Amino acid sequence: MLKKLLTSRSVPPLPHAVSPAEWETLRPEMLKSLQDNVYGRMPAAVPVTSNITERDPAFLANRAIYDKVTISFAYAGRDYSFPVQIIQPKFRRKVPYFITLSFRSSVFDRYLPAEEIVSRGFGIAIVQYTSVAGDDNDFESGLGPMADDRTAPDAPGKIALWAYAASRTADYLLTRPECDAKNLIVIGHSRLGKTALVCGAHDERFAFVISNDSGCSGAAITRGKYGEDIAFITKTFPYWFAPRYAEYADRENALPFDQHWLLALTAPRHLLVGSAVEDTWADPASEFLSCRAASPAWELYGLPGLRSFDRLAVPGEKYHEGYIGYHLRPGAHFMARTDWCRYMDYIAAHRNK
Ligand code: GCU
Repeated sequence: MLKKLLTSRSVPPLPHAVSPAEWETLRPEMLKSLQDNVYGRMPAAVPVTSNITERDPAFLANRAIYDKVTISFAYAGRDYSFPVQIIQPKFRRKVPYFITLSFRSSVFDRYLPAEEIVSRGFGIAIVQYTSVAGDDNDFESGLGPMADDRTAPDAPGKIALWAYAASRTADYLLTRPECDAKNLIVIGHSRLGKTALVCGAHDERFAFVISNDSGCSGAAITRGKYGEDIAFITKTFPYWFAPRYAEYADRENALPFDQHWLLALTAPRHLLVGSAVEDTWADPASEFLSCRAASPAWELYGLPGLRSFDRLAVPGEKYHEGYIGYHLRPGAHFMARTDWCRYMDYIAAHRNK
């Protein structure tokens, strides 16, 4: 049934490979195609320096350490920096960190049950997205100038720049002795879910890549999608993307791929996709189908991708057995405590030893 649904929407298959080695050789081409057509070039990694500007050693009832850190680097002759907030649970030898791309900077936020996350032994690194680069057409401030000439068809959009900042945050986190390098996580909601997927596709140091309600140009299959489409998103948020993406407005069939390519670039690591049933703008069914269509990438490695019934998910269901975890939450577009709990349960069960 799911296969039929994908065929009826003309979703192109993943590039053909017969072995992990062959798949690995396709990775750079797939990334390039996504960069050229959707998100723009990903700037090359450069070394970072860090400076702790604030510390609370007795945070969260003395169960955590809070650090405010400035991450700095030089790129193409210019200096850049952005702030990150770190919450490190105490009394743990190795800490799996969530790098969370966040809308707001407050640790106590409606999208972030920080105390509960820390009490379960996870660390949190908050990258507040507009402190990296504004959510607008301004490419003069923050990391904006890294996009260079925004008239180039493949110039990076803001999603690429926010994703780049999450990777530079990983550079810093990996220098902290308590950071569990085998279980690094990148997570985001909505536009920042799109960003988490782009970051995880490029940066193989992330063991878990999590997209919450990311929808159009995120986890959802574009061809035949309900709700938001390329015409709307490129008109309303042109600066999120490479300028070339707008050429596919009302021409989604001309794209040489669909969004399951982005998901498949996480293989053979873990991918988690959360949808909300009332979030018709993001289109939960298209997010679910995308997980299904990405699964063959994991199967090449002899690993299960999405393990589900051969039908669309129903609200309240979760599929946690495969390397792709999926859940469909009752309710609307939101990053709920339920979503976090699902993700933490999955990671606890699949954590790399
Ligand atoms: C808008 C946009 C979506 C995006 C969402 C968000 O609704 O159309 O693509 O995911 O904002 O980031 O909250």
